[in-house]
Amino acid sequence: MKFWKLLSFILIATICLFFLCRKSNSEHISEIVTIDTANCWTGAGPYQIPTDSSGNIIRYGYLLISNTAQYLGPKGSISHSTNGMNCQNCHLDAGTKPWGNNYGAVASQYPKIRARSGKLESIEMRVNDCLQRSLNGLTLDCNSKEMRSIVAYIKWLGKEVPRGEKPKGAGIQDLPFLSRAADPFKGQQYYTINCAKCHGIKGDGMPALNGIGFTYPPLWGRNSYNDGAGIYRLSRFAGFIKNNMPNPVNYHHPAISNEVAWDIAAFVNSQPRPHKDQSMDWPDINKKTIDCPMGPYADSLSEKQHKFGPFIGSSNNIKK
Ligand code: HEC
Ligand code: HEC
Repeated sequence: MKFWKLLSFILIATICLFFLCRKSNSEHISEIVTIDTANCWTGAGPYQIPTDSSGNIIRYGYLLISNTAQYLGPKGSISHSTNGMNCQNCHLDAGTKPWGNNYGAVASQYPKIRARSGKLESIEMRVNDCLQRSLNGLTLDCNSKEMRSIVAYIKWLGKEVPRGEKPKGAGIQDLPFLSRAADPFKGQQYYTINCAKCHGIKGDGMPALNGIGFTYPPLWGRNSYNDGAGIYRLSRFAGFIKNNMPNPVNYHHPAISNEVAWDIAAFVNSQPRPHKDQSMDWPDINKKTIDCPMGPYADSLSEKQHKFGPFIGSSNNIKK
């Protein structure tokens, strides 16, 4: 009798334990899923590109974006038309990372009218903008295999985003403005502590061991983006580093405060870099963004204030 009692007790206890474990396990999993995917747009990974021949052009686009220097850099196999950086250095994880300057709103929003050019821009024109400015290089022919592949990849990434929509987590986060001007002197100190170990005290990064591109991309100097690049605007730089640097933090666990991000942006974007003629930009100066660091302006604020702020209280906006 005693034996049967003991046996049934063990049986019941085992069953209870089994269900308890299962419950806590599934709760744990659903919690992770909620944090990872429900909040922000995340792009598909390269392993999800179709494996049949329809995927070839998309896959080549992925390779060009993640390893631009190998194809188009100073030692590129296709051309020598860019500065050795990769698109992926700024469009993290090949443009798929939430708030990592991703391509989540490109297929859904282009062609669109952009105030900087005053034109209706196709994806091709926008890519050529980054080639000329962010990669301080030359444009690609719109009919070239390379351009067609880059566009095919970007369209494939955004194929599920409804027309006209900008999903949460797309692009770069707009940080709230500071009530004061961003301070390049404080920024230099923060840079030395948080960034110099990879990007270098001189901001010139670290070349890759194989001589192609960079292990740590440059932030200023001759191999960096030029002064016409989007990231040369303080709000773009600050928003980008807040959720992504020091590499590889993400928006769940940023490592620097907003204030530090603005100050570092002010320091880095005060350093010397290649110049781009921008006299044809912003044909309607009323549409210039508040943080456009080059005059002329429609308002009476100085070029310095447009570069470093304070932007708060200004009637202008941050929109592209
Ligand atoms: C130095 C950093 C940098 C590099 C390198 C770079 N980009 Fe960009 N790119 C930016 C920034 C900054 C923006 C503007 C984001 C914003 O306005 O919020 C941008 C915008 C874009 C957009 C439009 C995104 C949108 O949502 O409107 C496309 C498309 C794009 N880049 C493609 C490329 C491609 C392709 C390459 C490589 C050939 C490249 N970029 C290299 C920084 C970079
Ligand atoms: C542990 C090394 C590391 C640290 C520390 C680090 N970065 Fe980066 N950073 C990288 C790498 C690697 C990339 C390129 C990411 C990629 O290609 O996936 C990058 C890319 C960038 C880019 C875009 C590409 C470019 O060169 O313009 C900027 C801007 C940037 N980092 C700024 C910063 C700032 C500011 C800090 C300090 C707050 C910082 N990083 C700290 C490794 C680092």
